[in-house]
Amino acid sequence: MEQNLKIELDKCIKCKACARCCPTKVIEITAKGAEEAFPSLCVACGHCVAVCPVAAIKHLKMSDDFGRVEDPAISFDQFNQLGRNRRSIRNFKSDPIKKEILEKVLDAVRYIPTASNAQELQYLIISDPKQIKLISSKIRQKTESAIFRFLYRLIYGKKAMEKQKGLMSRFSPDEDYVLRGAPVLMIIYVKDKTSLSTIDAGIAGHHINLACETLGLGVCWMGIHTLFSRHFKSIKKASLIPEGGHVVAGLGIGYPAEKYYKTCARNPLNISWI
Ligand SMILES: Cc1cc2nc3c(=O)[nH]c(=O)nc-3n(C[C@H](O)[C@H](O)[C@H](O)COP(=O)(O)O)c2cc1C
Repeated sequence: MEQNLKIELDKCIKCKACARCCPTKVIEITAKGAEEAFPSLCVACGHCVAVCPVAAIKHLKMSDDFGRVEDPAISFDQFNQLGRNRRSIRNFKSDPIKKEILEKVLDAVRYIPTASNAQELQYLIISDPKQIKLISSKIRQKTESAIFRFLYRLIYGKKAMEKQKGLMSRFSPDEDYVLRGAPVLMIIYVKDKTSLSTIDAGIAGHHINLACETLGLGVCWMGIHTLFSRHFKSIKKASLIPEGGHVVAGLGIGYPAEKYYKTCARNPLNISWI
């Protein structure tokens, strides 16, 4: 098996930090120093490189994107305020978002954790208003169709179906009930779906929400779009999902048209301590 690690044994101080931090026990410490004993188990997480106090390890299959650990200089209170300020935005200004800003947000999202370090998420950014309108109207047509209502009733019962019907009737035909008039629809999809891909997408989505909050952008999760593009080929097609892609999340992004004056109340915590 090809080695992943280049270890400079003359630098190694045998502190074993690399072996302790490797999630898949790739490294063994011998009399000579750290040795990559099981390269096939490596998930390329980079921990061995990042934890080595003497910079003796280089990962040959990873880029040089190993930064210094700096104090992020945010307090718990600031972090908590950021989380509490975030709102689901459903009224957007029509202002476009510069590509560089979305790139900046997604660049930050590269550092989220993913199960088995899969880093499998792909992003599709739709900012063509005509395409967004098309996707939205196709979903709306589906929700108003007799077959959809029949299936909804079959799965969730008559009461839930009536409630859904009543909710939809509250929106006029020109109101975007589905994508909320967001100028950008960001779709997260994967090619090789694992059982934990939706959790990875959830982490990415929330990271995007918080990053956007710091930049004055508003976000709304597009759960309706995610569900419909999973279940209806026509919606997936209209959403321009590449062949073999599975949609795992969708977010509407834009500059908020409303200002909130309060954070929203939440239920008390529900914790069991054992
Ligand atoms: C997975 C997920 C899917 C959601 N889907 C939608 C959606 O399709 N449309 C919508 O208007 N809001 C959607 N929301 C927003 C929730 O309704 C919202 O988070 C909740 O009401 C709490 O409000 P807040 O986000 O402002 O705190 C979704 C949220 C999540 C986490």
